[in-house]
Amino acid sequence: MASDLPSDRFRIKTLSCQDMLETLRRDAREGLVQAPRSLPPKYFYDETGSRLFNEICKTRDYYVTRTERELLEQHADEIIAMTRPRTCVELGAGTSVKTEILLSRLTALRDTATYVTIDVCEEVLLESARRLLRDFPGLAIESLAGEYLAGIDALREPEKPVLYIFLGSSLGNFSEPDSIELLSRVVRRMAPGDSFLLGLDRVKDKDVLERAYNDEQGVTAQFNLNVLNVLNAQLGADFRLQAFSHRAVYREAMEQIEMHLVARISQVIALPGIDEMIRLHAGEHILTEISRKYTRSSIQRLLSRSGLCEQAHFEPENGYFSLVLAKPVH
Ligand code: AVI
Repeated sequence: MASDLPSDRFRIKTLSCQDMLETLRRDAREGLVQAPRSLPPKYFYDETGSRLFNEICKTRDYYVTRTERELLEQHADEIIAMTRPRTCVELGAGTSVKTEILLSRLTALRDTATYVTIDVCEEVLLESARRLLRDFPGLAIESLAGEYLAGIDALREPEKPVLYIFLGSSLGNFSEPDSIELLSRVVRRMAPGDSFLLGLDRVKDKDVLERAYNDEQGVTAQFNLNVLNVLNAQLGADFRLQAFSHRAVYREAMEQIEMHLVARISQVIALPGIDEMIRLHAGEHILTEISRKYTRSSIQRLLSRSGLCEQAHFEPENGYFSLVLAKPVH
C-alpha cells in the first residue's frame, strides 16, 4: 500500500500485471516442456525471492555486493561531482541500499533531486521508498513496478542531467545481445550531459566464483528453488521443491556462471492452462540463470556496441569488480 506515503513526493506506477502472468505462462511452456530447459531469471524476484537475494548479498561467499559497496563508498563523491545529476534513474533498484551512498552525496549537493526506481518487485519498491523519503527530505521518488524495458519506455521526461544506474552486475543476467539491446534502449533516451553508472562483476578464479553461487549457508540454493514456488503460486503448477537440487558452475570458455535446478528423480509436472506435461528424467537440468563475468576488454566492447564510451573506471586492488561511468557517444 502506498497510501501512507506523501503524494507530493512519491508516485508509483504498476506496469501491466495482466501481461506479466501471460508472459510467465508462455515462458514456462516454451522453457520447460522440451529440453534444453530454462527459465528467465526475472521470475526469481517475488517477495520471498527478493528477500532471499538480500540474504545472499550478506553471505561471506557472495563478495559481489560488499565489493561494489566499498567502491561506491570510496568513489561516490567523485561520481556525483562528475555527473551532478538532478535525476537518478535506477534499473533493478531493489532495496536501494547501495544507491543510498550516492543519494546522500547528491542531496548534500542539491536541495532537491528525483530518484526514479524500476524494479519487478512492488513490495520492495514501497519499502525502500518509505525509508528513503524519511531519510532524505529533499528527495522525490517515482517508482515503476515492472520489467526494465517496460520501465525505460514508461519514463516521463526526467529533469536533466540524468544519472542512469545499473548496479550489482545485474546486466550479467542477460545474454550479450539482450544486454546490448537494454543498454542501447537507455542510450536512446540519454541527452548530452547524462551519464550511466554500471556495476559489473569481473572474471576471476573459478573457485571464488563457484563459491559465491554455492554459498555455505545454502541461501543461493533456497533462492534458486524458490522460483518453483513462484510457478506453483502464479500458475498453479505442482512442483515439489524436494525433488530438485541447486547447482551452479562456472563455464570458463563462456565467462559465465550457470545456475541450474537438477531433478533428483524422474517426475511429471502439470502446468494448468498448458496442455503438455513437463516430463523430467532424474539428473535433467533446468537452466535458471546465467551470470556473465567481464574483463576490461569485454566491458569496452559492450560499451562501444551499445553507443557508450567510458568516462571513468573504478576497481579494487584485486580487480574483482568494475564500477564504470559512461556517457553516450551521440
Ligand atoms: C542479481 N544478479 C546480479 C545476481 C548475480 O550474481 O547474478 C543474482 C544471483 N544469483 C545467485 N546469486 C546471486
